[in-house]
Amino acid sequence: MDRQLCTKQITAGITTYVVRAFANIAFIKYWGRVDHNLFLPANSSISMTVSGCATTASASFPSESDADILIMRSSSGKTTVLSPEDRKSCALYAHIKRIRDASGRTGFVTVEAANNFPSDAGLASSASSFCAITGALLLAFGLRDVFDDKRELSRYVRLAGSGSAVRSVYGGFVQWNKGNSCETSVAEQLKNEYHWDLVDLIAIVETKKKKYSSSYGHEIADTSPFFTQRISRISDRLGMVRHAILEKDFTQLGELIEADSNCMHTVMRTSKPSLNYWNDGTQEVMREVQKLRNKGVEAYFTIDAGANVHVLCQLQDALSVHEAIQKLDHVSSVIINKAAKGAQILS
Ligand code: DP6
Repeated sequence: MDRQLCTKQITAGITTYVVRAFANIAFIKYWGRVDHNLFLPANSSISMTVSGCATTASASFPSESDADILIMRSSSGKTTVLSPEDRKSCALYAHIKRIRDASGRTGFVTVEAANNFPSDAGLASSASSFCAITGALLLAFGLRDVFDDKRELSRYVRLAGSGSAVRSVYGGFVQWNKGNSCETSVAEQLKNEYHWDLVDLIAIVETKKKKYSSSYGHEIADTSPFFTQRISRISDRLGMVRHAILEKDFTQLGELIEADSNCMHTVMRTSKPSLNYWNDGTQEVMREVQKLRNKGVEAYFTIDAGANVHVLCQLQDALSVHEAIQKLDHVSSVIINKAAKGAQILS
């Protein structure tokens, strides 16, 4: 199915532009913004782009269209036409207009985006989808030069409204520099996908839509008494994570990413209102990771804005970590990831 949707094609005179992007797992999380209109984050963040969670987006100009249309296909095959009334979709419709205006072209576009993993369950589905959709739109509106300039591409992706998507522009290990303006808040690649064969096992304990949107969380993050404290330490932590990646120091990386995930969830819990994304399954997986470490198997967890748990380990431990987490009561499946490529044009 993916293949059919993805292949760049010219059918009945209609050219379809197709881009694939992968989600990413944040090692240092983005939580809170200094500018909600420009999506400028309160802190820089670092992630690994992950191979098991992809969105393929196509954009075309059907001749009979009299409006822009956005269609999402979930991993279960469900197709939804996004309503311009919905908050997140409305940002995407505005994004189409932004790119059309920037191109100086006209025409109504139809965009189809297909995820190969559960959407909206804290698996950063917007990261891969907003990145792939932006890429396909830029190509469709003739802005190939912007697509090829990854810094510019990441700037456009940010304006679509999903911060984590900014990092999916690149493969491998990526930093989104918070910057202080629309131009400077962009992503950079630290190391490509071949640098380090880390494995990220996502323990799925929840496939339903997350309880509160990340966007809402960003808006209220600074109501937590721990928000400022986390931000004040982040630049040291970023430096240490960068160092751990460059030196392939897994123990240092693991300890730091677990600590930052815990810090972010403390901020979430203590904001007003309090946001708690975890469920019993989340805690079961966290306990198992601790047990594995007690047995000498190095694994670390990190959790985004959802209940599912990313368990990081080295390639030599992946089998035993996988075996241990897949048999837990609350785990319905495990997605296996390694570092993936950045946004790509499919042909
Ligand atoms: C907790 O605003 O990017 O995942 O668009 O819903 O994916 P979505 O959220 P976004 O915030 C993501 C927050 C986070 C941490 C992170 O990915 O850095």
